[in-house]
Amino acid sequence: MTPPTHLQNKQSDPDSKPQGQETLTLTLDGEEVTFFAGETIYEVAERHRKEVPTLCYDPRLEPFGACRLCVVELEGARNPVASCTTQAQPGMSIKTKTPAIEEHRKVLLEMVVSENDGIEVDPLRGYASQELSTLVDRYGADTGRFQGAQSGCSKFEDDNPFILRDYNKCISCYRCVRVCAEQEGDYAISIKGRGFETQITTEFDGLLKDSACTFCGQCVQTCPTGALADRKALRAEGQDGELQKTRTICTYCGVGCSVDLVTQEDRLVAVQPAMDGPANEGALCVKGQFAFDFVQNPDRLKKPLIRREDGELHEAEWEEALQRAADGFLKALDEHGRHSVYAIASGRAPSEAAYTLQKWIRSGFGTNYIDNCSRA
Ligand code: SF4
Ligand code: SF4
Ligand code: FES
Repeated sequence: MTPPTHLQNKQSDPDSKPQGQETLTLTLDGEEVTFFAGETIYEVAERHRKEVPTLCYDPRLEPFGACRLCVVELEGARNPVASCTTQAQPGMSIKTKTPAIEEHRKVLLEMVVSENDGIEVDPLRGYASQELSTLVDRYGADTGRFQGAQSGCSKFEDDNPFILRDYNKCISCYRCVRVCAEQEGDYAISIKGRGFETQITTEFDGLLKDSACTFCGQCVQTCPTGALADRKALRAEGQDGELQKTRTICTYCGVGCSVDLVTQEDRLVAVQPAMDGPANEGALCVKGQFAFDFVQNPDRLKKPLIRREDGELHEAEWEEALQRAADGFLKALDEHGRHSVYAIASGRAPSEAAYTLQKWIRSGFGTNYIDNCSRA
């Protein structure tokens, strides 16, 4: 599973051009490049394939400017500027990678990691969980250079089944708080205190289940350090087998969110949102994010069951079960007419099964009494 260094930007094509917008120019690393009104320096640089590091940046959210890792040299400016919060202007001359800027970024990174109790985390923790460790490797940053106080206090006592709150690994980028507010519209988490007292918290500093949290998992997937982690995925931590991702669509409802199923050998171990999913842009709800245990549940029926004279369900062969079902449907049709039959397909069934069911109800019984919970 390849760790992302940052979430994908929607406008990553250097030639992409918003319709009807005037093309402006600036100088980027000595080369004249085009940009469009409203773009930030980071967006222009990213579109022109410059590797500007980020930590507090998530392209789906309003720029925030907390980590300063995205600093660039801007001609005429006294100090390096944060590229994610600075609007590109015509005639600007920008350098994205000078020795001084790279050193500046390395020192900033060392300050950030010094308040983190560990940077090597399992990629199962979340989609963006490898961002910090990837940057530390890239810059050869010394994780123990600065000693002193650390912000963030873990909340392991929050025993919900979905989200691990390991704030000792928090770097106060506030991506979790912002994604909850801006993307989810939920405002379930917030920031308490400042400086080394900074703590990500809920209203009244309680448990997530007692807050407005809907357990959509957005905060987990945007966290660049693994401080917020997918508890269900971590059940597979330490198990043998390479992690692989397979792109598909969540079947639970008609929104059609794109997801990546994370598998290890023949086991489904996690679901991660597809940041470039056209319907969801990385957002999921609790069902799409966490409700996948049914796939490997040992209680799943593998053989049909028939209720016998003793009133109990007994395993049966398919032929007998299908015949019994057919007899029951024909009896209902005969005695009560075509509207006595109503079918509801499960969102957990494959599309082919849903299609076949509606065909069977419509053609076989002559009624439109057919629905699917995915329509909700
Ligand atoms: S928990 Fe993660 S996303 Fe939230 S502020 Fe801390 S490091 Fe950032
Ligand atoms: S159930 Fe949730 S995750 Fe799945 S498609 Fe609907 S909104 Fe998206
Ligand atoms: S990415 Fe620009 S300030 Fe953090």
